[in-house]
Amino acid sequence: MGKLQYISIMYNLLFHFLLQIIERNANPEKLLLSYLRKGLHLSGTKYGCGIGGCGACTVMISTYEPTSKKIMHYPANSCLLPICLLHGSAVTTVEGVGSTKTRVHPIQERLAKCHGSQCGFCTPGMVMSMYALLRNHPDPSMEQITAALDGNLCRCTGYRPIIDTYKSFAGEAACCQLRGTGQCCLDKEEDVCSSSDKGNQMHSGLCNPEEFQPVDPTQEFIFPPELMRMAQEQQKRTLVFHGERTTWISPSNLRELLELKAMYPKAPLVVGNTSVGLEMKLDGVHHPVIIHPTRIPDLHVVSNTNNGLVIGAACSLAQLRDILMKVVPELPEEKTKIFRALLQQLKTLAGEQIRSLASLGGHIVSRGSTWDLNPVLAVGNSVLSLVSKDGTRQIPLNDQFLAGYGNADLKPKEIIVSVLIPYSKKDDFVSAFRQAERRKNAASVVNAGMRVLFKPNTDIIMDLNILYGGIGPTTVSARKSCQRLIGRQWNEQMLDEACKLVLGEISLSPSAPGGKVEYRRTLLVSFLFRFYLEVLYGLNKMYPAKYPDLSKKNLSALGTFHSEAPQGMQTYQDVDPAQPPQDPVGRPIMHQSGVKHATGEAVYCNDIRAVAEELFLAVVTSPRAHAKIV
Ligand code: FES
Ligand code: FES
Repeated sequence: MGKLQYISIMYNLLFHFLLQIIERNANPEKLLLSYLRKGLHLSGTKYGCGIGGCGACTVMISTYEPTSKKIMHYPANSCLLPICLLHGSAVTTVEGVGSTKTRVHPIQERLAKCHGSQCGFCTPGMVMSMYALLRNHPDPSMEQITAALDGNLCRCTGYRPIIDTYKSFAGEAACCQLRGTGQCCLDKEEDVCSSSDKGNQMHSGLCNPEEFQPVDPTQEFIFPPELMRMAQEQQKRTLVFHGERTTWISPSNLRELLELKAMYPKAPLVVGNTSVGLEMKLDGVHHPVIIHPTRIPDLHVVSNTNNGLVIGAACSLAQLRDILMKVVPELPEEKTKIFRALLQQLKTLAGEQIRSLASLGGHIVSRGSTWDLNPVLAVGNSVLSLVSKDGTRQIPLNDQFLAGYGNADLKPKEIIVSVLIPYSKKDDFVSAFRQAERRKNAASVVNAGMRVLFKPNTDIIMDLNILYGGIGPTTVSARKSCQRLIGRQWNEQMLDEACKLVLGEISLSPSAPGGKVEYRRTLLVSFLFRFYLEVLYGLNKMYPAKYPDLSKKNLSALGTFHSEAPQGMQTYQDVDPAQPPQDPVGRPIMHQSGVKHATGEAVYCNDIRAVAEELFLAVVTSPRAHAKIV
């Protein structure tokens, strides 16, 4: 029996055992992270924020999709995942990727050798995000690598050595050679980028790439065949999990889902638990029944129609991004303006773990004021297909729907099946904006979707639509201002008036929740100004004889911020070549716990197992100086 076959059989036996435990413990209120750490004592997966924000708890979920017969791997925040959501899935934790007792995986080895950990608390999450990426893309691009790490925060090492480590897995040159200079910057006298970039290899001298183990995808665990069989057998079975306070129901077809929705109209539909889960965790919201519609094929439809793209409501945001990235280059540019605006938002929306869990339908229906896709979908005139036991209907996804107005909203027994995202037209201009405290993985302070449609071959406004998020409890529309501007020419006078109208219509009281009132008001008009310039730029590209080039100053407002993979440079003094090899002073030395950080074997205070009657101590500072302790 080959080693790999043996490992695979052992894994499957282990998994079978694990699965039975999961079935017995599939309490809807129990989350995967606490099950891993407290139930299975697998403490490599770390508890950082507990709300899907830091990535320390990242695991890889693998599922088998019986209809397409495909296995999907994706990273996920285990702190948000109820274990019953994982029925039939394989969960890989950092311990399953590699350990010092079995084999250290190349990801773990390189991260340790290239000084990618300091306290090591974020490291297992970093490993898992990269592992999930490599399982799907063995030759990832730098864009994919940085996107994969969007949801992982490191608060002490810094990202340079981590990104540098992972560059060694990139399937492309990652330095200036890529940017068309024809020569590496390191061949010139003045260094302008990290030495570690050169030729896609680690050349900094801080670690030696020749010591790296090669990546061998054939050595990875296979998806357990038992789960594949189970997914096929259970395809038509309703799954019900009872907890102390909550019942979790996963119907297998649309008819059954509609019956359930009619029976429990208040029950939320939960796909990735990134929104309802947070409400339950942070606000103590309780749902006696939760419906999990993920196994229903109708909710995963993806089709290209004459009017636009139809995307199933249960498709994840990562799937939506991948679909848009595929179709945009295949279609004429003028048809893809809404898609490109959505893509721009999807690239900075949360982290890959959340994008892999959150669904399009959930994003729309939860109507968070700072959710970045809703203003763009609304200005793009997207249409929601709804269904209930009473039939089907379509409603516009517009400002009134987003504000939750009775007639424009879902009825209690209805569900969203799919969303039509229309193609744009030749004289359409669509833009998306967001400003957040961090560029990625942070909720927007203000976001916006803007669209203008001109009379054919002119710059006369025929239709204008502007929506802002982050201003009030829901996404708000500058509807009246837009109506006043119809018929106007796209020029500076129009812009002046538009700014005044918008500031008059979108009010923010000085005591508005969330504060930053002046900042947010400034963003309203800053976005508008940028939209004005983007449209002028587009008009000039379409009709160069009619519309002049933008001035250099105005053009400078249009560049994208940090669109390339992050580059860093580290300068250090090398040791004297005459220094004896046994003298370590001044030499880069791998963190002694580096490998254990990367395998999750390093033990932190919170990883120490609880014992009966243990006593906790905490350091406090006295509020009084020189007081006597009695
Ligand atoms: Fe921070 Fe889960 S613990 S994302
Ligand atoms: Fe990343 Fe400490 S938080 S190594």
